[in-house]
Amino acid sequence: MRINKYIASAGICSRRKADELITNGQVKINGKILQEPGYEVLEGDSVSVNGRVIELNKKHTYVLLNKPVGVITSVKDDKGRVTVIDLLNDHPDIADGASRLYPVGRLDYDTSGILLLTDDGDMTYRLTHPKHEFPKTYQALVRGVMSRERELKLVRGVDIGGFVTSRAKVKTVKIKGNSSLVEITIHEGKNRQVRKMFEAVGNPVMELRRVSFGEIRLGRLKEGDFRKLTKKEIEYLMSI
Ligand code: URA
Repeated sequence: MRINKYIASAGICSRRKADELITNGQVKINGKILQEPGYEVLEGDSVSVNGRVIELNKKHTYVLLNKPVGVITSVKDDKGRVTVIDLLNDHPDIADGASRLYPVGRLDYDTSGILLLTDDGDMTYRLTHPKHEFPKTYQALVRGVMSRERELKLVRGVDIGGFVTSRAKVKTVKIKGNSSLVEITIHEGKNRQVRKMFEAVGNPVMELRRVSFGEIRLGRLKEGDFRKLTKKEIEYLMSI
């Protein structure tokens, strides 16, 4: 296995970050600083990062969390806000491993819904690489009445400040008074993209929830609760 993939598979960091560690001379093979970025790890090799020998952790953990609003998608926070890892630390059957888990992509502080966490760095790398952007569906409660014309604008792509969004799927679920509940599926992950898209058509978001991540759905999981991914869901992610 190529060295960057080996480091990522051990849950140390992403493949991209592993390449940086190699360039910075922080990786040693059998006690010698690795000079060759494309090195293939051999059976019996001792790989260390920053002086710590790493081993391939073959049994990874994959968790789906329903992130509540007011929780930060981060492993720790300088401002002392509650992180997604703090939520997992409260659960006895994940607590020991929670410190090794990290989020796959991110949700805003004020967004709720589906967030995957894993210690499989290689999986994280593949799922968050821009080349592999796959569908994510959000339910947005927006201000104002969503018109067909605005729906079409969102479908075809809107300018969110120097970036025109690619084709999206949009369905208005219901209109109540001066607000609309709209389901939108996008394939990119620009910063606050969904909020900016609705802002661009004149229907600012009041509440935002991610309900699916590819084929993986939030279902009835309550806010703040988590579950481990099923074997079928893990296989699906592996196949992407
Ligand atoms: N788009 C947003 O605006 N916020 C999120 O958290 C995710 C997508």
